[in-house]
Amino acid sequence: MYKKLLITCLAAFVLGGTANAESLDDQSIKQVYSGGKYADYLAGYHQKLGAAAQCSACHTSSKVSDSQVEIDKSCIACHGTYEALGKKDQEKGKKISAHAGHLSINSCTTCHGGHEPSFAYCNNCHIFDMDMKFGRQKIPYTPQDLTKYKDAVPNRVENADVVIVGGGGAGIAAAIEASRNGLKTVLLEKMPIIGGSSLLSTGGMNVQGSKQQKEAGIQDNPELFVKDTLKVGKGKNNVPLNEVLADGSPKALEWFEAMGGHLDLDKGVYGGCSVPRMHFTKSGGIGRYMIAVMKKELEKSGADVRVNSQVVRINKDKDGNVTGVLVKGKNSGLYEIKAKSVILATGSYANNGALVAKYHPEFFGMVSSAQPGSHGDGLQLAEPIGAKITHLERVQVHPNIAAGTSIMLTLAFRTNGGILVNKEGKRFFNDNAPRNELGASMLRQPAQKVWLVYDDAVAAKRQKVHNGYVRLGFVTGAATPEELAKKVGLPEKAFADEMKKYAGFVKNGKDEDFGRKELPEALNKGKLYAIEVIPAIGGTLGGVNINTNTQVLDENGKPIPNLYAAGEVVGEWHGEDRYGGNAVAGNIVFGRLAAQQARKAVK
Ligand SMILES: Cc1cc2nc3c(=O)[nH]c(=O)nc-3n(C[C@H](O)[C@H](O)[C@H](O)COP(=O)(O)OP(=O)(O)OC[C@H]3O[C@@H](n4cnc5c(N)ncnc54)[C@H](O)[C@@H]3O)c2cc1C
Ligand code: HEC
Ligand code: HEC
Ligand code: HEC
Ligand code: HEC
Repeated sequence: MYKKLLITCLAAFVLGGTANAESLDDQSIKQVYSGGKYADYLAGYHQKLGAAAQCSACHTSSKVSDSQVEIDKSCIACHGTYEALGKKDQEKGKKISAHAGHLSINSCTTCHGGHEPSFAYCNNCHIFDMDMKFGRQKIPYTPQDLTKYKDAVPNRVENADVVIVGGGGAGIAAAIEASRNGLKTVLLEKMPIIGGSSLLSTGGMNVQGSKQQKEAGIQDNPELFVKDTLKVGKGKNNVPLNEVLADGSPKALEWFEAMGGHLDLDKGVYGGCSVPRMHFTKSGGIGRYMIAVMKKELEKSGADVRVNSQVVRINKDKDGNVTGVLVKGKNSGLYEIKAKSVILATGSYANNGALVAKYHPEFFGMVSSAQPGSHGDGLQLAEPIGAKITHLERVQVHPNIAAGTSIMLTLAFRTNGGILVNKEGKRFFNDNAPRNELGASMLRQPAQKVWLVYDDAVAAKRQKVHNGYVRLGFVTGAATPEELAKKVGLPEKAFADEMKKYAGFVKNGKDEDFGRKELPEALNKGKLYAIEVIPAIGGTLGGVNINTNTQVLDENGKPIPNLYAAGEVVGEWHGEDRYGGNAVAGNIVFGRLAAQQARKAVK
């Protein structure tokens, strides 16, 4: 309480711009921050060392912005850039470096606190032993009850043409499109970094009619894409939305490639679908690659991007028109942005354990591979203004998490030939079945223990990704099935027999045990690998309803004026299960579409 009051006072004092509060060197603030608990951390350490004796060594302005970029600039001026520090770490022989991650972080204060404990952001997902000065174990990112902001009063008001809520793939695509079209665009992200779960995608992006498909001689068309999507979604999909997705997918890829990105066609076929349609990158995970490319374009576009900025309410007038949002900035407090359009792109609720367990008590306590802030805020924001929200029980259980972690392995290892075996060393299901079916079948295995098995031929199709898993210590490799079984604790003979039997199925082109259609590899080339996998919540499929113009609909199916949505916060398009690769494509198709609608609202 004391700390809170003090901070509020100080913030008011600092931000209020009192006569002599021109800089943070102002005597009374300086006094408070130079001693006591504020001085016990990195800032105090620098001051005592004399390394940054003045507050202004780190704080170049009297305000501490929410994104804290001005502080980052100071850190970088003395210590060098993130990349340079990463190189140094590698030269020192560090295999895993917090300064050489895959999240496109360039903000030091994402991890290093000034007057509070530091935290290695990597450990939201990994379990790395990182010896961080003034570090702490964990930041508890827990879902918040946003109803408490119902009547909250902002401390200031700003204006924009469009506000985008959430800086994942969908929000970034929307922000680039809106800003390029001359709209005053503000992108708000509650976490210290942008990218969301989109950063973590490893599989790829589904596109029909791409030049990559044509070059490979693959015949595809929108109808076939929609048909496959419906097959995976068990026919419960919103068909018009999928038509927009299928029609828009080649343009989405061209849009991305026009930024300098490039994707290749993956020859694997997603379980039960008609043709190879997934586009991937040889550089490793698709998410990190696409976000890195798009992030540069976002910076160029001139959009105003603010991290540590959580939207806590959508505002509307008495006629029900959306008028903007209420934002909680980490350092600047509650403020309002009035906008002509609001685009909701807040992602999933996969990390909201209570919400998931409400519909699926059997998933209680299950880990999620989504980013830590995937709490379903968008649903909480949209509900009070009358949005229709459906099928929250549609939760995706993914059969592909490395045991003991929350790291999802790419489905491409299965679509390209890998198999799953249980504790008895035996296959138990069509290993290339859609994910929910496979997830459910895993839960029925003895002790729920399952291994993903693949060989060098499969690894070669995603060599960088495989190397990454090796680096993370997930992979056991061996020259023979017997040796592999011994190493991971499977019955040797049973497993070796199973591998022989499977190779026979592949040779004859028929899986007599489980009817797997796609049999690209006999799993007898080079070394054989196993990764123990567990089921986890990969994503969520329920959410707000939109029409083909991305307008959010109310309970009566009527558009809520000025409110649009894109990405995983949107329900219905995937049906009961998501065709892997559709989300990444949809982020661009629907994110851009929402921005184009917002533009119409301005003109
Ligand atoms: C490990 C993993 C692998 C995947 N692989 C693939 C794949 O290969 N192919 C594929 O198509 N799909 C894949 N997916 C699914 C896909 O990544 C997601 O469905 C999609 O990227 C979601 O994009 P989004 O922009 O809607 O959400 P996100 O990328 O999650 O972004 C939403 C953002 O909104 C922010 N936010 C939330 N609430 C607020 C608030 N109140 N105020 C401000 N900001 C807020 C969040 O912090 C987050 O950054 C994968 C998912 C995971 C987790
Ligand atoms: C005016 C220059 C300056 C600024 C600004 C500055 N530092 Fe430092 N920092 C130093 C010096 C000098 C040291 C002590 C020598 C050393 O260890 O490099 C130090 C030490 C550190 C250490 C401890 C290194 C160890 O011994 O383990 C960390 C971590 C660190 N700084 C991070 C930061 C971060 C993060 C920021 C921004 C919030 C920052 N510094 C801002 C100069 C600066
Ligand atoms: C993803 C989290 C993360 C980010 C972002 C980050 N650091 Fe670090 N930093 C760490 C951790 C963890 C350590 C402890 C040493 C280790 O395990 O590598 C560390 C150590 C340091 C050190 C002391 C040891 C050394 O390498 O010299 C300095 C200085 C430092 N960081 C500066 C910075 C600066 C400057 C930035 C911004 C450009 C930055 N860090 C960004 C996590 C981070
Ligand atoms: C080594 C860099 C560094 C120095 C020196 C430094 N700060 Fe900070 N300061 C930070 C960082 C980083 C933050 C971001 C929030 C956090 O991590 O505490 C911050 C945040 C703040 C805030 C925002 C409120 C809060 O606590 O989060 C205030 C106010 C502040 N500093 C005041 C001061 C004053 C006054 C001094 C001098 C006595 C000072 N700082 C010296 C790095 C520094
Ligand atoms: C939000 C969750 C998340 C966070 C935070 C995260 N990672 Fe990862 N990491 C993943 C996932 C998922 C994969 C596997 C997918 C991939 O390779 O893109 C992965 C893969 C890796 C790999 C293996 C692939 C490679 O590039 O070699 C390394 C190493 C790694 N992470 C290091 C880090 C470091 C260092 C940080 C902090 C700077 C970090 N990770 C932060 C989720 C995360």
